[in-house]
Amino acid sequence: MFHQTVIILDFGGQYNQLIARRVREQGVYCVVKPYTTPAARLRAMDPIGIIFTGGPNSVYLPESPHPDPEIFRLGVPILGICYGCQLLAHHLGGKVVPATADSAREYGKTETEFSTDCRLFRGLPGKSVTWMSHGDYMEQVPEGFRLCARSAACPNVAIADETRGLYGVQFHPEVNHTEQGAAMLRNFLYEICGAKGDWTMEDYKNTAIRQVREQVGDGRVLLALSGGVDSSVAAALLAEAVGPQLTCVFVDHGLMRLNEGDEVEEAFSRWDLNFVRANAEDLFLARLAGVTEPEAKRKIIGGEFIRVFEAEAKKIGRVDYLAQGTIYPDVIESGAGDAAVIKSHHNVGGLPDCVDFKEIIEPLRMLFKDEVRQLGRELGLPEYLVSRQPFPGPGLAIRCIGEVTRDKLDRLRLADFVFRDEIARAGLEGSMDQYFAVLTNLQSVGVQGDGRTYDCAVALRSVTTSDFMTADWTRIPYEVLDRVSTRIVNEVPGVNRVLYDITSKPPATVEFE
Ligand code: XMP
Repeated sequence: MFHQTVIILDFGGQYNQLIARRVREQGVYCVVKPYTTPAARLRAMDPIGIIFTGGPNSVYLPESPHPDPEIFRLGVPILGICYGCQLLAHHLGGKVVPATADSAREYGKTETEFSTDCRLFRGLPGKSVTWMSHGDYMEQVPEGFRLCARSAACPNVAIADETRGLYGVQFHPEVNHTEQGAAMLRNFLYEICGAKGDWTMEDYKNTAIRQVREQVGDGRVLLALSGGVDSSVAAALLAEAVGPQLTCVFVDHGLMRLNEGDEVEEAFSRWDLNFVRANAEDLFLARLAGVTEPEAKRKIIGGEFIRVFEAEAKKIGRVDYLAQGTIYPDVIESGAGDAAVIKSHHNVGGLPDCVDFKEIIEPLRMLFKDEVRQLGRELGLPEYLVSRQPFPGPGLAIRCIGEVTRDKLDRLRLADFVFRDEIARAGLEGSMDQYFAVLTNLQSVGVQGDGRTYDCAVALRSVTTSDFMTADWTRIPYEVLDRVSTRIVNEVPGVNRVLYDITSKPPATVEFE
């Protein structure tokens, strides 16, 4: 590893990925490891610091997760957050007990006072708001530690043994509600762990290119390019590293947004690589003819995708490496740590079974989504590709309710383009996580010019979400919705009504099918 590393030891807290992102935002590389990782393995990674995450347990209960006690003898600074703070107290001779209502159980925003002579809080205001979420209380602080933050309800909000570099905070510095949280993490990283800030995307790019070249040698690499952010950035990185040995197969199923296929092709024209665009629109439409059931549509598209990809792969002949755009959240969520993971929910899931290859290359498996976008910019990919919103594998087929036909797809593409165009003109792209148009199967009566119409309704969908498991509908300003509606009924043939979906997930899903 070429970078200084901070290890985030995962005790099951809900903000663990957020801690990792916050650390990386400070220019410091970090990895998330399960709490069961032996201290010897952690030492072998030569970390400059360790962060214990929060977690839903109580340290004094028999089933609760504990680290290898040798970890406290590594001589590496440790920051314990919430449950992690209580672990420090519990293991080093203090006492943690359940908080009673009148002592120190705290939830939510809490006015907190800090001792600014503690290195963790140096240079910060003496008072600020922290975000608390704990039901346990450090009744007795371990020997060698001092108290360095307090709230009205709790005298020991933070503890520190500065000589050993051990720090614990009951609150969550990683969430935005903790006003000085980022500055505290920065102090831990730079003042306490001696971070140099050597995690930059330019550096990552150069290192990753070198590593890919070493790994691949004169082998041949195959990548399924979907046009989404992850596979596009992976492709660009591989193109930069081993262009002529790389074949990107872009299966154009004809279910993409307006001009998307051409945009992807254009974006990769600057590299010397083997770019195969399999124009399979007719094939997909033929297979989808007459099919209206959403799951049936998905299955047909998934199966056909693999067949087309396989046929193209066979034309290439020998393949040594199959590249995938797996990113770090997939790796963490799989719980597999270092082990090789093949994304099961990948758009082209099942590919490894149908093509012979020696190894999988996943050049983005250490990166968060924001970092993947940054790397894409660093590699010179156009902004429209790098900042692209998520797009489902089955494409517009699941936004075209009922049977999928070329004519319906063309109308949907136009409506969707108008919606995205108006959102961009209003500068609202950053305030929503996914937004698109749907061609419903509702026909309704309208009046245009002097005549009665009996045409289709387009539904607009926009959601705000952090994980797509739950989502809220976006409060788009009425005047923007008004412009979108006016343009769609004027510019898209056969549409006389525009609806806005005001349902959250659950009970609805993001997509209509
Ligand atoms: P739902 O509709 O399940 O969507 O609330 C959640 C997120 O997943 C995307 N999605 C898919 N992505 N293949 C994909 O790659 C699929 O079959 C698929 N279905 C839904 C959806 O666009 C949203 O971001």
